[in-house]
Amino acid sequence: MAGSDQKLTAKLVLPDSKEVTLPVTVGTEDEHAIDIRNLRQETGYITLDNGYMNTGSTASAITYLDGEQGILRYRGYPIEELAEKSNFVETSYLLIKGELPTVSERENFGRMLTRHSLIHEDMHQFFAGYPPSSHPMAVLSAMVASLSAYYPDCLDRNSPMDLHITRLLSKVRTIAAFSYKKSIGQPLIYPKNSLNYCANFLHMMFAVPSEDYEVAPVLEKALNQLLILHADHEQNCSTSTVRMVGSSGANVYASIAAGILALWGPLHGGANQAVIEMLEELRASGGDFKKFLDDVKNKRDNRRLMGFGHRVYKNYDPRAKILKKMCDEVLAHLGVKDPLLDLAKGMEEIALRDDYFVSKKLYPNVDFYSGIIYRAMGIPTNMFTVMFALGRLPGWIAHWKEMVDDKDTKIGRPRQIYTGHRVRKYVPIDQR
Ligand code: ACO
Repeated sequence: MAGSDQKLTAKLVLPDSKEVTLPVTVGTEDEHAIDIRNLRQETGYITLDNGYMNTGSTASAITYLDGEQGILRYRGYPIEELAEKSNFVETSYLLIKGELPTVSERENFGRMLTRHSLIHEDMHQFFAGYPPSSHPMAVLSAMVASLSAYYPDCLDRNSPMDLHITRLLSKVRTIAAFSYKKSIGQPLIYPKNSLNYCANFLHMMFAVPSEDYEVAPVLEKALNQLLILHADHEQNCSTSTVRMVGSSGANVYASIAAGILALWGPLHGGANQAVIEMLEELRASGGDFKKFLDDVKNKRDNRRLMGFGHRVYKNYDPRAKILKKMCDEVLAHLGVKDPLLDLAKGMEEIALRDDYFVSKKLYPNVDFYSGIIYRAMGIPTNMFTVMFALGRLPGWIAHWKEMVDDKDTKIGRPRQIYTGHRVRKYVPIDQR
């Protein structure tokens, strides 16, 4: 396992007083882990950790985050700097390849993404088969899995992976925009090679064949920043799903499709949609924060303050900090006055002074303000999680690649503690 330091050890005393010495692994930022890989073999014991709250599933050199300090870095570069100075294509290259590209590497990468943006014409028929009410995440996940049918050499892990990776990055963008166009009954707009990555996406989303469409620079910049902020977040639910599915030998398209489905849940990427729905509901009911927060605190109907709380951040999510500022800037630039922004800010202010949220260290996460920006950009609520998927794609790919290249990778297969019946004798149906 990369980065392990086998000099430190930890001792575990088992109920029969047997002592086991376990090696300790230390990361480059001085995080410590007890390596239990041989525990069951040596002792018969397993560890139990619902939701993997304390379990490291891998060593990884892609993203570092410190939830207590509110730090997030991709390949060592702080998220704040990347959001300000980089663009999404460059950040994707960084995540996947490990280094920032040179000028020619960046040009070449951009050219490849432009070249592979079309999807097979036969796939257009798939869009026609979905009812207009389909959630675009259902369409996106199915389409991404279907890409493996069009590029069957992906089934061989020794086929050139760079090409599949390029196709994914480029075509997921096209599929996302097509799924939106289909849902509103407009003609599909083909990608335009003269535009770069984010502008091309906005063009496919908002242009119509009957008139010219100019991509506003403010929208292009905002989209670049939003996608960068979502690009990776180490071993979260969807990324771990990508690694888990990929660990069985499943192809890259299947693994990414699984990640998209994991992201869809409201406790994960689906929260950006849930935040807007929550704020809309609050507005419709007269904006009574107190009653709303009382319901949350009393766990009425399992209600949660969506866009708040995080498994890892016990401090302000650094991405939410950037997004809050961006929200003000983008809305001002577009001249949009969104009452939901005032509601969100009001809610945040009250929650951050409330003992329930303070004591549980619940702060706004990446989803709290992102939806308000997407709304101002004209992106409909049910597309928010698709936008998240587009942003997270390079992170999923980087982890998939790291997992495949790691000679220590094993198929993901956790253990369990069985709590069901002991052996029973089968009773024939006429005797039950
Ligand atoms: N509103 C109200 N209470 C909350 C919230 C919230 N948003 N988040 C956590 N809590 C409470 C829980 O009820 C629990 O209380 P208890 O100790 O009285 O039972 C305690 O805080 C700990 O919560 P857990 O669910 O155990 O924490 P966990 O780390 O498992 O969950 C999660 C993290 C799922 C993100 C949670 O905070 C949540 O549901 N937030 C709302 C959904 C959301 O915004 N998800 C997006 C996360 S970011 C992302 O995935 C991109």
